[in-house]
Amino acid sequence: MYKKVTVIGAGNVGATTAQRIAEKDLADVVLIDIAEGIPQGKGLDLLESAPIEGFHSRIQGTRDYDMTRDSDLVIVTAGIPRKPGMSRDDLIATNAKIVSTVVKEAVLRSPDAILLLVTNPLDVMCFVAKKASGFPREKVIGMAGVLDAARFRTFLSMELDVSAENISALVLGGHGDSMVPMPRYTTVAGIPITELLPAKTIEALIRRTRDGGAEIVNLIKTGSAFYAPSSAVTEMAEAILKDQKKILPCSVYLMGEYGIQGVFIGVPVKLGAGGVEKIIEIKLTDEEQRLLNISADAVRSIVLKLDVEV
Ligand code: NAI
Ligand code: 2OP
Repeated sequence: MYKKVTVIGAGNVGATTAQRIAEKDLADVVLIDIAEGIPQGKGLDLLESAPIEGFHSRIQGTRDYDMTRDSDLVIVTAGIPRKPGMSRDDLIATNAKIVSTVVKEAVLRSPDAILLLVTNPLDVMCFVAKKASGFPREKVIGMAGVLDAARFRTFLSMELDVSAENISALVLGGHGDSMVPMPRYTTVAGIPITELLPAKTIEALIRRTRDGGAEIVNLIKTGSAFYAPSSAVTEMAEAILKDQKKILPCSVYLMGEYGIQGVFIGVPVKLGAGGVEKIIEIKLTDEEQRLLNISADAVRSIVLKLDVEV
């Protein structure tokens, strides 16, 4: 029997994620949204691509949470995206209410599911989801580091003219201006980029990575990125659904790891059927630790500003 994934929010990220999961035959998918007709229409349209694409996942679009019952994984993309000039944090109040509501509806029907958060501001929405669900920290995971690392890998591959597949990158911290790309742990076929590129070039690529979301928003104007984000979500979903035990940078709730307490922040974790199966603690330099602390403080300060009932 196929596993069951619910994708909440049938917008750009949600619908593209549903498509990627189905095309990889990872699970049956329920696509749910508040908008009338959109999830049903996109769900049916995706299903009608199955005979051509050759996948067997069943996709259903709906507004009815009863159809999400007994999901193994619930992916939350519901919310409003950034418009030009808006920071991710501008989205807080609206998206916190949406995330809290949809998570409560979903976990009522799928108490054993793992929650994978996408809605921004990501690290803060993970906190909202943890509170709304009452789930243990192993089962509430945020997607950001995989996307940010993919952007860093892309820019490095463009700079070095080598396959992006050869590049392994690590980005820590919050999904926002305070993210912490880690050149020391970023390699091309095992060679640290610090040996391949001058510090100034690495700095410029780090800046572009930090601004990667805004770069797309400024080009698209009516919304934000969704192709790379949905690829990142799908890689995490696959690791969980297939119990791959993959090491990926994810936003998780720290309880003393890296000297940080009570906040969601991006760090490398082992992802498998149990969700977050291990938090990997790597040695940081004083400067890296300082940047991670600043990032955690930035997330914490937004959480403290949350005035919605979650
Ligand atoms: P979108 O506007 O295309 O889709 C959002 C969908 O959520 C819409 O279809 C809307 O009807 C739905 N929605 C709103 N309220 C709802 C509710 N109460 N219940 C169910 N559905 C509801 O936006 P897009 O581009 O799909 O982005 C979604 C979210 O993901 C945004 O907050 C965006 O900032 C975030 N994002 C996060 C990334 C990350 O790295 N963590 C990357 C890309 C996007
Ligand atoms: C991004 O990084 C909008 O957070 C989203 O593209």
